[in-house]
Order: sequence, then structure tokens, then C-alpha cells
Amino acid sequence: MSTVAYNVSVNLPGQTYVVTIAPGILRETGRRLTSIAKTTKAAVLTDKGVGPLHAPALRASLDAAGIACVQASIDSGETHKSLADLLPVYDAFLAARMERSTPVIGLGGGIVTDMAGFVAATILRGVPLIQVPTTLLSMVDASVGGKTGVNHAVGKNLIGAFHQPSAVFIDPQVLRTLPPRELRSGLAECIKHEIIRDVDGFAALEKNIGRALALDMDYLTDLIAHNVAIKARVVEADPFERGERAHLNFGHTFGHALETVFEYRYAHGECVALGMIAASRLAKSLGMLDDAAVQRIVAVIEQAGLPTRVVDLNTNAVASAMHFDKKVRSGKLRFILPDRIGHVVIRDDVSEAPVIQAIESLRS
Ligand SMILES: NC(=O)c1ccc[n+]([C@@H]2O[C@H](COP(=O)([O-])OP(=O)(O)OC[C@H]3O[C@@H](n4cnc5c(N)ncnc54)[C@H](O)[C@@H]3O)[C@@H](O)[C@H]2O)c1
Ligand SMILES: [Zn+2]
Repeated sequence: MSTVAYNVSVNLPGQTYVVTIAPGILRETGRRLTSIAKTTKAAVLTDKGVGPLHAPALRASLDAAGIACVQASIDSGETHKSLADLLPVYDAFLAARMERSTPVIGLGGGIVTDMAGFVAATILRGVPLIQVPTTLLSMVDASVGGKTGVNHAVGKNLIGAFHQPSAVFIDPQVLRTLPPRELRSGLAECIKHEIIRDVDGFAALEKNIGRALALDMDYLTDLIAHNVAIKARVVEADPFERGERAHLNFGHTFGHALETVFEYRYAHGECVALGMIAASRLAKSLGMLDDAAVQRIVAVIEQAGLPTRVVDLNTNAVASAMHFDKKVRSGKLRFILPDRIGHVVIRDDVSEAPVIQAIESLRS
């Protein structure tokens, strides 16, 4: 294992856990697991894309640590993030005689970590959860913070539970097999973190984004640790999303609507990238943000190889999809808007016209 390693702790009332970021850590999962939990069994959830690539290394490490494991693999893709797709997973895990102390290990992207979290929250009324995220997005966002769940036909992530992991093991090396489009998608959440919290981090990202795209492991390890720390601090301040955790939804009010309207043809991070541009332009039209900041935001998104505009955009469809978003409060849409890079505010008093204009600005 490389000598570069970070431990970021997430301190919540009644529970503290550590997110370890270290190249090569995947092969140490078994040994590390035995140091935090007394178990001789584990239940691994992965998907059919990640499983063949990375489950053998994980399973070998469990085996070496004397941990027997049952593995279930779901089909990849947002349309399989459903309760129906989880039923055979419950069947397999229960058939293997899981116990209350048997951890569920989520090995995969955000879909897998969200679903593994939901299984861990519900099976036997709750078992320990270990997250081993394999996309940049799930490393810096989905695997930390305890939000778990699946989609429903009515909308994304509408069925779920809060269930914090006992540990998160992040091996940046697994990003070598990640399709470049998915890497870029994860960079969208990194950009989001800097815009909501860290102007210096934003400047560093502007300078180094090429290193991330080139899979420079030292830089990726630093970037992931920095982003996990931002996410951890936000989650600590508001574990159940009653207040400032909503800041993490910057770009997501527009982004979720775009995902729905494009029927998931665009990746989550791509929709968030477009959503951050729309939200920044909305902030500018409300007199909150200056044009230079908007231009920096658009430029860094472009540098990351993410979309900054779309051809087949149906503005009205996106506007109406926004009303089904969970972030609607008493009939009013809630926006997370930057008033400078590194700082956002929650606004629920925005009228429809500038919102429509912001969506329309994404059309190429
Ligand atoms: N719980 C949260 O707080 C939270 C936060 C953000 C996003 N999410 C959720 O995360 C999901 C998106 O996650 P995602 O972007 O990671 O997508 P994903 O889980 O669909 O993974 C993307 C694709 O990459 C493949 N893949 C994953 N890791 C790989 C690797 N190392 N090598 C090769 N292929 C690999 C997967 O098989 C999949 O096909 C959404 O459902 C979103 O709602 C949750
Ligand atoms: Zn997101």
C-alpha cells in the first residue's frame, strides 16, 4: 500500500466512524474489518459492472481474514435502483443466515452504496454497514453521510432510511477501471463541494483538474480526502437534513428535474453540472452573484469535460418536473444559490420566471 493515507472521522451524536482513503486499501478490507467488528461473516452487495472487476480482491481479503461471505450482484443502472431489484438480495442474504452482527458491504458506485445502505438499514431491523465506494461520486458523496434508499416510479430516492456506515474504505486505485464519463461525473460533486464551502479549494481545482482526469493517484487521493472532509463537516452539522445539509443539494433542484426529463440518459453528475450552471445564472439574475463568478463556474465545469449546455432541452418539461422534487416546501421551490464562490444560501422565495430563464439558458 502507498504511504499516502488519510483518515477523516465523521462525528455524529451516538456514532463516530472513520473514512479511510488510501491507494491499495481494497486488499486490506478483511484485516481492517476484523479490527472494527467481531464477525466471521459478511454480505457483499455489488453490481454486475463492478463485481467482476473488484469483488475478487475484496473477497480474497475477507477470506484471508477468516470472514466467509455471501455475494449478491444487482444489474447496473438507475432503472435497477428499485425495491423489486432488492428482493432477490434479501433472499440471498437471509438464505446465508445473516445475523444482526453480520455487516453488509457495499462495493460499487452510488447506486450500490445507496442500496447496500438500505438493505443494512432494513434487514433484521438493521445490521452494520461498510461502504467500499468505487466511483468518484460515491467516494466523495454517496457513501458518506448515511442517506440510503431506492427510487420509486414517482421519483428518485423516495424510499429510504438514514443509516450511517460503521466504516468507509476508499481505494482511489479502483478508479483506474472507471469509465472516463463516470470520473467526470464525480468531479461535478467535487466542484459542488468547493462552490458551497471552499473558495481556495475551488481555485486549487481550477488549477489541477487535468491531474484528476489523468488519474494522478497522489492528486486524486488528496482530492477525495478534501471532499470527504467537506461532506463530513456538513453532515455533522445536520445529520438528518433539517437545515444546512440542504446546501449539498446545490445544482440538484435543477439537476434532478433534468435527470427525470432525460430519463436518466445523462449521468447524475452531468445533470448536477448543468444544474449548478442554471442555479448560478439564477443567482446572478437575482443580483446575488457577479458575472465573473458565474464564468469561473461554467469554465471549471467545461474543463472537467462536463456538459455546459444541451441540445434537446424541453424547458417546460424541466420546469414542471421541478415541482415533484422533494425539496418543495409548502408549495414553494427551494433553491441553494451561491452569493460568492465558497458560500451558498437557501432561497424559497424565487418566482417562476427567472427559473424558466435559467433552464432556458442551458439550451445550445
Ligand atoms: N446517498 C447519498 O448521499 C447520495 C449522494 C449522491 C448521489 N447518490 C446516488 O448515487 C447514484 C449515482 O452513483 P454513481 O454516479 O456512482 O453511479 P453508479 O452507481 O451507477 O455507477 C456508475 C457505473 O459505473 C460502474 N462502475 C462503478 N465503479 C466502477 C469501477 N471502479 N470500474 C468500472 N466500472 C465501475 C457501475 O457498474 C455503473 O455502471 C444515484 O443513484 C444518486 O442518487 C447518493
Ligand atoms: Zn449528487
